[in-house]
Amino acid sequence: MLESELIEKLNSMIRLDNDALSSYNKVLDNINEQVIKSEITKYRDDHLRHVDNLSGLIIKYGGVPTRDDKDIRGLFLGSATAIQNIAGLQGSLMALQTGEKLTNKDYSEAVSWNVPEDVLLILKDNYEDEKRHLRFINQAIADKVWERR
Ligand SMILES: [Fe+2]
Ligand SMILES: [Fe+2]
Repeated sequence: MLESELIEKLNSMIRLDNDALSSYNKVLDNINEQVIKSEITKYRDDHLRHVDNLSGLIIKYGGVPTRDDKDIRGLFLGSATAIQNIAGLQGSLMALQTGEKLTNKDYSEAVSWNVPEDVLLILKDNYEDEKRHLRFINQAIADKVWERR
C-alpha cells in the first residue's frame, strides 16, 4: 500500500472515531443511570485514545491527521438534531448500538488491510475495544436496563 493511501485510510478511521467521540459526549448528557454512565464514559475515552493512536501513526508515516469530525459517509448517529431528540436511556443505547455496528464493520475491514505491522497492531487493538463496546451495548439492550428502577 502506498503511504498516501495508508494516510488516507487512517484518516477515514479518525473521522469515524472523532464522530463517535462527539456522539458519545452528546449521549452522555442524557444518561443518568450511574453504572451505564461510567461504562459509556470509558468507551468515550477509548474513542479519544483511538483518535490519538491513529494520529500518531499518520504523523509517523509523514501525513497530517484530519481534524474533521464528520464521517464522510454520514454521521455515527445521524444528525446532531436527531441526538438531541433521543428519548431517555433506551433511545441513547439504541443510537449508540447503530453507531457501534458501523465502527465494528469498519474496523473489521481495517484489520484486513495490507499495512505495516505497527499499524496493524493498533488497528487490531482498537477493534478489540470496538467489539467490547458493541457487546456491552447489545447486552444492556437485551437486559432492558432502562426498566430497572
Ligand atoms: Fe473507536
Ligand atoms: Fe466504540
